[in-house]
Order: sequence, then C-alpha cells, then structure tokens
Amino acid sequence: MKFFIDTANLQHIEDILKKGFVSGITTNPSLIAKEPNSDYLEHCKKIVEICRDIKDVPLSVEVFTNDPNEMYDQSMSLLDGLDYDGANIKIPVGYEELEVVNRLYQNGVDVNVTCCFTESQMEFSALAGARYVSLFYNRLLDWGGDPNQVLKNVRETFDNNGITSEIIVGSIRYQRDVENSWKNGGHIITAGYNLFPSILQHSQTTFCVEKFISDFSEWSKNEDKK
Ligand code: E4P
Repeated sequence: MKFFIDTANLQHIEDILKKGFVSGITTNPSLIAKEPNSDYLEHCKKIVEICRDIKDVPLSVEVFTNDPNEMYDQSMSLLDGLDYDGANIKIPVGYEELEVVNRLYQNGVDVNVTCCFTESQMEFSALAGARYVSLFYNRLLDWGGDPNQVLKNVRETFDNNGITSEIIVGSIRYQRDVENSWKNGGHIITAGYNLFPSILQHSQTTFCVEKFISDFSEWSKNEDKK
C-alpha cells in the first residue's frame, strides 16, 4: 500500500514529501503544462532537486510525443538529463508502444505504462516489462466501465502468475476511490494534491480536538483560581 502524488507543482511536492506518507511522484505533460512555462527537462530537474533535499522517491516522467520511434530517444535523453536513480519513464499503452517499453526494460529502465483502461492493456504491458501499469480509475468510470472489476481481475492475474509489476491507480478523485482501490488490488494510489487534506478531515475529529482544547482551557482557568 503506497501513495504517490500526481502533480508537477513544486510547492505541492515539497509540502507533501515533508509529511512522510507519500513515496512517489507521477507527472504527465498535462500536469507540467499547468506550471509556469519553462523547459520540460528543467522543470523535472527542479522536482528531482526537491526529492534529493527531502526524500528520494520514484519519479515518473512521461514522453511527450505520439511517435513510438521518438519515444525511446526521448526517454533516454530525459533519463540522462535527470541523472536520478528514482526516475522512471511513462509510456502510454499501445501496440507499437510496447516495443518501446520492452527496449527500455531490456536496457534496465523502469517503465510506467500509462493510460490503461482494460485488463489486457495492463497485462500485456507487464509482460513487455513494465515496472508499473497505471489504470485511470475515474476516467474509466466516466466512460461507463467498472474500474473495481478491472483492478480485481488484473491483481488476481498478476498474483497467480508471479508478475511483479505494480498496479498504480490514477484518476482518483474521492475518498471512496481510495478505499475501493486498496480493496480491489491496487498496489499504489496516485492522486492530486488537493485530495489529501480533504480525506484527512472528519467533522468528528474536529469536534473531538476542539473539545480537548476547550476542556483543558476550562480546567486551566479553575487551576488559576486555586
Ligand atoms: C495520470 O497521469 C493523470 O494525471 C490522472 O489519472 C488524471 O486524473 P483525472 O482523471 O482526475 O484528471
């Protein structure tokens, strides 16, 4: 059971790594595009600097081309530029793309195969050598699919066949998605920064803590009078 953060925001990464419960970072070109316009590699290097300062965690960096022939070269130049052991490369799933996944795997590169919506996409990716396979939970739900069943099926197949690829569950939007992802076999959940403060809140927690403070404050006032 591991939590990754799905963001390219430097402040959010720094803030959450200090909390200690996050053990990885996933990014993609859309997340990078939400940040101030700069060089792709330079921005990813800033993320690496934060990891080196606070906590060395795996960092997924995605290729930004549709051309499978360019994906391999782009992956290698991103890895060269980052020079970070935790860096892994995100490749979108697809028939031609699995050749890139396999080439990277043969060269010792950890690959996160992303944009998966079906059992076959995840299982074939694992067989091609993916270190991680990423299911888009709510996007599958939005489309009318059943991400819980897909998770359950894939996890069972992996476990029954000794496949060690880890299932990352992305596109997580609500607390119930977190619980369902664990229950149905996800190894890792990756979620945007805003989810974390909200799922750690409960009205009864707030009530209990306020009561502790107010009871103590009343007691302290009485102590003063003695
Ligand atoms: C992963 O790479 C994506 O950032 C993530 O799954 C998208 O989540 P969303 O569907 O909530 O936008």
